[in-house]
Amino acid sequence: MATFIRLSRCLLSRNVIPLRSQERWCAVVAGSTEHTLGVKKRIETTRQRALLGGGQKRIDTQHKKGKLTARERVHLLLDPDTFVEYDMFLEHNCTDFNMEKEKYPGDSVVTGRGYINGRLVFVFSQDFTVFGGSLSGAHAKKICKIMDQAMLVGAPVIGLNDSGGARIQEGVESLAGYADIFQRNVNASGVIPQISLIMGPCAGGAVYSPALTDFTFMVKETSYLFITGPEVVKSVTNEDVTQEELGGAKTHTSVSGVAHKAFENDVDALLQLREFYNYLPLSNKDDAPIRQCDDPWDRLVPGLDTVVPLETTAAYDIKDVIQGVVDEQDFFEIMTNYAKNIVIGFARMNGRTVGLVGNQPKVAAGCLDINASVKGARFVRFCDAFNIPIITFVDVPGFLPGTSQEYGGIIRHGAKLLYAYAEATVPKITVITRKAYGGAYDVMSSKHLRGDTNYCWPTAEVAVMGAKGAVSIIFRGSNTQAEQEKEYIDKFANPFPAADRGYVDDIIEPRTTRQRICQDLEVLSSKKMENPWKKHANMPL
Ligand code: HXC
Repeated sequence: MATFIRLSRCLLSRNVIPLRSQERWCAVVAGSTEHTLGVKKRIETTRQRALLGGGQKRIDTQHKKGKLTARERVHLLLDPDTFVEYDMFLEHNCTDFNMEKEKYPGDSVVTGRGYINGRLVFVFSQDFTVFGGSLSGAHAKKICKIMDQAMLVGAPVIGLNDSGGARIQEGVESLAGYADIFQRNVNASGVIPQISLIMGPCAGGAVYSPALTDFTFMVKETSYLFITGPEVVKSVTNEDVTQEELGGAKTHTSVSGVAHKAFENDVDALLQLREFYNYLPLSNKDDAPIRQCDDPWDRLVPGLDTVVPLETTAAYDIKDVIQGVVDEQDFFEIMTNYAKNIVIGFARMNGRTVGLVGNQPKVAAGCLDINASVKGARFVRFCDAFNIPIITFVDVPGFLPGTSQEYGGIIRHGAKLLYAYAEATVPKITVITRKAYGGAYDVMSSKHLRGDTNYCWPTAEVAVMGAKGAVSIIFRGSNTQAEQEKEYIDKFANPFPAADRGYVDDIIEPRTTRQRICQDLEVLSSKKMENPWKKHANMPL
């Protein structure tokens, strides 16, 4: 426009334009300038309106609830000044219920891209101050756009959820929007990491997008997830239940297993999410990130020599083993309060991201049950999908017996963990610290399921079952059981039956575990393995 004005002045001053036309020409130029200024002003005021979401009053209400606004969250999550916003001008196009009179630029979600510790990420943040963050067609379109871009370039998507669900005024338009997102969640599964952080309500069918993503995190006391709220529950099942009991962070991180972790408040959640992000590769085509490591890879850990108690049934904490071997004792545990008999999480070894799985002898003797199997299986599959080596610590007396487990389908659910380990092609390193009994020995990343390196500590016992149970079956009715038990223990309660068959590669001193694993990870970093071609597998669900 500036060039246009300059050119006009020049033409007028040189009398190139006939005098009679000059008046009209001046009007055009003045009009254009006015128009330009008008557009500029409109852009500016629209931006300002977008930045205010549903207005100061609603922002204040959000703050009073102890919640940040959608924009504040994005800025805290991303590196300073890296957020590039998309679709700030996009508005809903609903005309029912006088909705055409109530429009907010950007509608009820803030979307865009940015960086976390210098690594690209796409993000959406639902704005509760605009129609309660409810999902309109426009809202869904914005989310789909960033998901599509994330897939194109190969970068993760983080969704910050704070929404009253489907935009009631839009009806099926909103439902269609959800389905568009679900389809993208499924297409992106195993291609780019997808993370949901629930920071307010998330109800009805809306819960299924977070459920389809790889990790669902929650904020304590301000977030909840449920299919139907307490009123509907009361009317259908006559149960009295509060919102928090039904779908709060405690419920989903300790009872249902729907959420993987809960944080104290918005700030804590966003800062920890930044930490978590550092472990993840950008996509399934990238390797897990490697970070500069100050912890010597060959550090001996003498404490591990005595961590396993002499008494074979005594408990110890597998987290002491995990923290002992990983870089700087830094272990990002996932699902800490759910199925505590198995421990899962991320850490680094010599700077490399690894996924850790360990039976927890402190809880239910570390046996595998339905919940532990499902928890472990999903984690193993995530690691495998995103090229993260898996390190497994085994101390497992077997699968949990009982009618509740059998009726609940332990066969079907236990098969998930077996399946996950068997299909995984990433480097798999296994350390049997003590018991590896029965089918659980096979399942827990054994040599037979293509474990790359399998170790035993001297305290390892690899057998079909414990001595008491075994003797009571094979010597039923005998009155020399004590003797036979001793014979069984001598034979099986040591690492040799596995080692002398090559089912473990070495019996190692516990103190050397860190250096052995770091060496193996280095060697296995060039591992290439593929499963047979298939449309998709049919894993037990
Ligand atoms: C349109 C909504 C809305 C919605 C809230 N609002 N939910 N607008 N559609 N779904 C608006 C309110 O009118 C209000 O507008 C503002 O958001 C804040 O809502 P409040 O009720 O004042 O807030 P609060 O007391 O904190 O309660 C939050 C809430 C409640 C618990 C989320 O609003 C609620 O129950 N909403 C309806 C939830 C619901 O049933 N959604 C549909 C679920 S079924 P003003 O103008 O006053 O600020 C579903 C199907 C999805 O989602 C299917 C996918 C397959």
